[in-house]
Amino acid sequence: MSAPATQATKSTSMWTNLRELPANVWRSLFRNPIPSSDLERASTSFTNFFLHIHPVKVHRNTLRPLYSMGLGLISFFLFLILTVTGVLLMFYYVPSTTQAYDRMLDLRGTVAFGIFLRNMHRWSAHGMVGVVVLHMCRVFFTGSHKQPREFNWVVGVLLFLLTLFSSFTGYLLPWDQLAFWAITVGTAIAGYAPVIGKQVQFLLLGDTTVGQEALLRFYVLHVAVLPLVMALLVAIHFWRIRKDGGLSRPEEPAAALAAPGETPVAVLSLAFDAPLEEPVNVMHPPNPAKAPWYFLGLQEMVSYSAFWGGVGIPTIFVLLLLAAPYLERGSAGVGKWFARERLLANTVFLTFALINVIFVIIGTFFRGPNWEFISPFK
Ligand code: HEM
Repeated sequence: MSAPATQATKSTSMWTNLRELPANVWRSLFRNPIPSSDLERASTSFTNFFLHIHPVKVHRNTLRPLYSMGLGLISFFLFLILTVTGVLLMFYYVPSTTQAYDRMLDLRGTVAFGIFLRNMHRWSAHGMVGVVVLHMCRVFFTGSHKQPREFNWVVGVLLFLLTLFSSFTGYLLPWDQLAFWAITVGTAIAGYAPVIGKQVQFLLLGDTTVGQEALLRFYVLHVAVLPLVMALLVAIHFWRIRKDGGLSRPEEPAAALAAPGETPVAVLSLAFDAPLEEPVNVMHPPNPAKAPWYFLGLQEMVSYSAFWGGVGIPTIFVLLLLAAPYLERGSAGVGKWFARERLLANTVFLTFALINVIFVIIGTFFRGPNWEFISPFK
């Protein structure tokens, strides 16, 4: 009598398991039901990999849009867009001097959404350089680099340099006139460093001039080495924000909440195409041959003094950035934009930033053939 009963129980439980399959799969993934109380919401956050990246509770000040302006998050989203579009572009791109340019034309002419993909990648890259610089300015002007956040500031400075280097290495890949001559100028600047300059230049190019070896090196750095190092540093950056007690804030209670903003890269990519000039012609440099816009401040300084403009001043600038939170101690003015207590520090930083912006504007609009002054209004 007992055997058929066991059989019945078995088949019932199989049937029940099948019926409950969707619910069980859902529970194995998310563990908690849709939360309805604060306690359940906290538990959902703790047990979910993606949600646990954000703290269960944040200070009101952190959510004020005009405090952080969401610039760190926008930098991160641009990094994600660059990763996704970059992987898709890798399906079509070949890092060879004989094929790279043709592949660019293919993206324009034959690959579905190819031009849109390239535009997204290009405009996000320019956007990321700009937004990371603005994020760095926001952090400094709100005194958020001061203790206990010194280490995270240093991680940030590394991320800033890597962002520039990633954009720079990507610049060469289309293998058009713009790419070739911008990188020729950019790597020549590295060559001005005393003692090791020429070695560094050779290490970057794998040769004495920009050619196949340089294209391969820039490609490997651009698609593998730099993104991996950056992903690791971004993870450390986020982890540190939590360990440093969340975003910086002023001592006194702060004002009301509102929602953060979004980035319009897709709209931009539908409206404007990434440039593609003539194929590389090593015999015909454009006059003037200009570096990418974010290095035009450097190029302008190099036109006054190769060593000081290209190496000396930039090195001092980066060392000062790294040292800033160790030179400016104490908690005065932390969490407030342009605090009176930090007038001197903010004025020095703003002066450096403005000088750089002025040099970039001069290099972009006011320099013509042989790097002579021209009027952009003629
Ligand atoms: C790939 C580049 C970067 C990404 C993705 C990134 C991301 C973020 C995010 C999401 C936040 C929190 C919210 C916000 O401020 O928007 C943050 C905060 C912070 N970032 Fe960055 N960041 C980057 C580069 C930098 C740079 C260049 C610096 C400085 C040199 C920096 C220093 C800091 C500091 C000190 C904080 C804490 C600020 C505070 O407590 O108020 N970060 N970052």
